[in-house]
Amino acid sequence: MSSANQILIEKQGQVGIVNFQTEKLNVLSHALRSDLYEAIQQLLADAEVESIVLAGSAKAFSAGADIAEFSAGTHLQFPSLHDLVQLLSDANKPTIAAISGTALGGGLELALACHHRVIDAKAQLALPEVHLGLLPGAAGTQLLPRYIGVDLALEAISTGKPLKLASLKDTALVDVLTETDSKQAAIDFAQNTQKSAHIKHSNIDASAELLASLQAKRAAMGNQAQHVVQHAILNAVEAAVTLDFAQGFAQEQALFQSLTESDVSKSLRHAFFAEREAKNIPDLNPDARAKSVAKVAVIGAGTMGSGIAICFLQAGFSVTLIENQQAGLDRGLGLIQKHFAGQVAKGRLSEEKAQAIQANLSTSLEYSALAEVDLALEAVFEDWDVKTAVLKQMDAHLPAHAVLASNTSTLDLNLLAAETSRPESVVGLHFFSPAQVMPLLEVVRTQYTDDSTLMTALEIGKRLRKVAVVAGVCDGFIGNRMLNEYLRIAGLLIDAGASPYQIDRALENWGMAMGPFRMCDMAGNDIGYLIRKQQLKINPNKKFSGIADQLVEAKRLGQKTQKGWYDYSNGNRRGDQDAEVMALIDAYRAEQGIQVQSFSDEDIVARCIYALANEGFRLLEEGIALRQSDIDVVYLAGYGFPRWRGGPMFYATQQGLGYMIEAMQQFAQDPTTDASFWQAPALLSQAAA
Ligand code: NAI
Repeated sequence: MSSANQILIEKQGQVGIVNFQTEKLNVLSHALRSDLYEAIQQLLADAEVESIVLAGSAKAFSAGADIAEFSAGTHLQFPSLHDLVQLLSDANKPTIAAISGTALGGGLELALACHHRVIDAKAQLALPEVHLGLLPGAAGTQLLPRYIGVDLALEAISTGKPLKLASLKDTALVDVLTETDSKQAAIDFAQNTQKSAHIKHSNIDASAELLASLQAKRAAMGNQAQHVVQHAILNAVEAAVTLDFAQGFAQEQALFQSLTESDVSKSLRHAFFAEREAKNIPDLNPDARAKSVAKVAVIGAGTMGSGIAICFLQAGFSVTLIENQQAGLDRGLGLIQKHFAGQVAKGRLSEEKAQAIQANLSTSLEYSALAEVDLALEAVFEDWDVKTAVLKQMDAHLPAHAVLASNTSTLDLNLLAAETSRPESVVGLHFFSPAQVMPLLEVVRTQYTDDSTLMTALEIGKRLRKVAVVAGVCDGFIGNRMLNEYLRIAGLLIDAGASPYQIDRALENWGMAMGPFRMCDMAGNDIGYLIRKQQLKINPNKKFSGIADQLVEAKRLGQKTQKGWYDYSNGNRRGDQDAEVMALIDAYRAEQGIQVQSFSDEDIVARCIYALANEGFRLLEEGIALRQSDIDVVYLAGYGFPRWRGGPMFYATQQGLGYMIEAMQQFAQDPTTDASFWQAPALLSQAAA
């Protein structure tokens, strides 16, 4: 094989075989495309060869296009994927793809361009471009509908989910579904096959019914900005129905191009790469290794502890749950059992599997149970004395190699770590509630955390299938520190004249999963109350709206008391607007002598989202967050920020940081706001310049 791309041409009888295997799962880089193109041409010109098999490795036929090349523009360099698709589908000899492992995106399109496919039954075939805000741009939208029908193809392309091979085995997509070596099966197939016209020459019957169903799908989709990708996919598949292949192929290309330039698509790509990038920690010692973790203990079986225990159990860890009283253990155990019973009832887990998972759970009231544990995480009350006592017990009983993790959300983890004899082994694992549902995990690196402990924490995040982001120690870490400022600014907007209902509606229409006040009602308004009191202790001049406090003092704690910013007493889970709350707000404004202003929805969104981004720049400046994109990942995975807007930092950057600073200068003029908050941090001014 040539060393660069490991291509090997081989012949068995009249079958020519192109074997290809690169280190990077046969990603279709320019180099690999060139080698493939040349090899196929060579076999096409070889008079002895009657058919051509393309055989990838056992792991991957091909993982798809090289996305890095894509931003550099080299994906269009000859031979592009288009050129390969043309070459294979125009071949005057049968071409056969032997597929094992994965055939994704451009990799699957390469296989679709062949006349035939011999597929390992365990292979994974998908067109996941939608996750990058794109459509398959190398004839995938034109060929897949011809192979498996318009409905199934549209479903596969618009969701990006893997094709269900077993149910497709009678379609033209699958010539052979094999349990054995796909390459050998493809060679056997090739020896017995005759040349036939490529499927691209057959047109789909454009019945009135089919066209009407596509039209109905389009109408059901809505026309908002975020649907641009789904519309483009639908238009491309429709082109496969109404146009011949050559025209449809050109149409697909035009739609692809217009998507690459759209903000939604750029945001989705940013989100994808930001999540990947978050795993790279630049300053780690290259020799440091994650510790191996099999046995875990969770201390404190409350809301968080039991949810976290569920996460570990589901990921195959053996878990010991520790409490200081039997009642706490029983309650936690009850929550865990209820979760697994629910999974069984919903058909997500078999009864046997649920039993097997729970067999890995043990409980104890003694810290001696930590003796053989590799990682222990405390999720006890958020109280300095309780936490330090528990950490000291962990320190006393855990083996030397163990990691000591804390789920604290507000205490200073540098100080907590210093209470142990091994602060280098202490790390924060900040889960979000409900832990078994929320994908975000903030991995908190203290001033002492050593590289191997940090790497272990990141590895745990990966095994739990969480989106892990490293944060430094500060009040609220990345996510909650920004959230607190966002909520503070939203509160001050009410003082100034916006209603909580307008603010929620404006942000929800903009794309946030939940407006700030609905969110507070869900979490409990007493939580924000305590945070504000704590922040005022540290900084008595910090400016907050007084309305939220009045709500709490009136026992309007949110959903749990049926009344908060909204009224839930009618059983409406989203809550009804409440005249009592508006009366309270009016009285507060009058008492404060505030001249009420009116705000447009855009104005509200700008203030709230810039509050997030502005605090994000402060976090970067302080080194709490490693990079802008990590902050975006936190917001996408933990706070219901719309993925198609890329995250607060990306959004602000796309809008223009100079523009953001000007807007903030405007906001600062408002007498009800906190003018000092809107001063651009130096890093933001630099970035804007
Ligand atoms: P919780 O009150 O539901 O649970 C705490 C549990 O710890 C109780 O079951 C209690 O019996 C147990 N416990 C108390 N002292 C103990 C001791 N000395 N030894 C063993 N067990 C003891 O509290 P929750 O909400 O689960 O919070 C736990 C931790 O998670 C806190 O540090 C909190 O800040 C943090 N956190 C909470 C989030 C939330 O949304 N509730 C989100 C992220 C972090």
